Amino acid sequence: MLLELAHAKNILFFGGKGGVGKTTVSAATALVMANAGRSVLLVSTDPAHNLGHLFGCSIGSKPMKLTAGLDVMELDPAETVKLHMEEITSSLHRLMPVNMRSEVDKHMTLSKDAPGMQEAAILERIAEVVEEGVKEYDLVVFDTAPSGHTARLMVLPEMMSAWTEGLIKRREKADKFAEIVRGMGSDSSMEDKIFGADAKDADKSRELGIRQILNRRRLRFTTLRDRLSDPEQTSFIIVLAAERLPVLETIELYEQLQKANVSIGGLVVNKRSPAGMGEFLEERRLQEELHLATLTKALPDLTRQDLYLTTQDIVGIQALEKLAATF
Ligand SMILES: Nc1ncnc2c1ncn2[C@@H]1O[C@H](COP(=O)(O)OP(=O)(O)O)[C@@H](O)[C@H]1O
Ligand SMILES: [Mg+2]
Repeated sequence: MLLELAHAKNILFFGGKGGVGKTTVSAATALVMANAGRSVLLVSTDPAHNLGHLFGCSIGSKPMKLTAGLDVMELDPAETVKLHMEEITSSLHRLMPVNMRSEVDKHMTLSKDAPGMQEAAILERIAEVVEEGVKEYDLVVFDTAPSGHTARLMVLPEMMSAWTEGLIKRREKADKFAEIVRGMGSDSSMEDKIFGADAKDADKSRELGIRQILNRRRLRFTTLRDRLSDPEQTSFIIVLAAERLPVLETIELYEQLQKANVSIGGLVVNKRSPAGMGEFLEERRLQEELHLATLTKALPDLTRQDLYLTTQDIVGIQALEKLAATF
């Protein structure tokens, strides 16, 4: 299932609870695809930065070459928020009257820690990485942060484009109103006398600037939303362990993703207990089967791929290739 999806799609997301093997499985998939001759970008959006640990090297927030065909990067939330804030501040400086600058700065300093700011910044960055990634690579693989966060990210494009849409409509209404008011006074020179013709021009160009920024954002989010919800291009793979809570959380995550119109490619059940390895593991294996029966009952249409627990932790390229050979 994993390799079929990886061959068929341009964008793969791996999500699930912490510790289930998202980083391991996404990296193994990316690696095996690169070995098969495709150009692959592997991106971690998890602040826990585990790609670096996995490959034993430090990985930055720009794509860097790891092996032939495979580039990797880790989104840095702090840096992403900083850049995002700088971008917004500079737009606001351009668009607001000069005497409002200190107000703008005060507002931006407060917004830095506002709830949702980090998610919005990361989402903007993901949108960028997706757009650039699909141009430069055959496949972009996202190793995402634990469940809740990811599901929210997936709904955000929808929310953000609706929000921007609302703002654009409000501005259009305000424009129409202004036009009517202007039309009522036949002599516009009066207005010029009061406010100054320059001030009016500055207002108009600010207005245009705001509209352009809103339109660009709307386009960015609708493009991202369309890409993420296009099953031809994108698949979301849920990784889990065959345990009670991960199973319940998987069912929840599946529902959230479905609501967000994200196409779910399948389930990877990782760290399964191998058969024929003694009584202890056999008992564990039967327990896993019970949990998996709950999973299959709740999500009967999803393809499932089981990966077995290995005796060693999976670190480095060779260990990943060994795991990928069992896909
Ligand atoms: N099939 C497996 N067998 C043994 N250990 C595994 C397996 N899959 C993952 N691990 C180990 O489990 C730990 C957590 O995996 P990781 O991929 O970092 O999870 P996540 O990214 O979901 O938090 C790592 O130490 C990894 O080496
Ligand atoms: Mg991880």
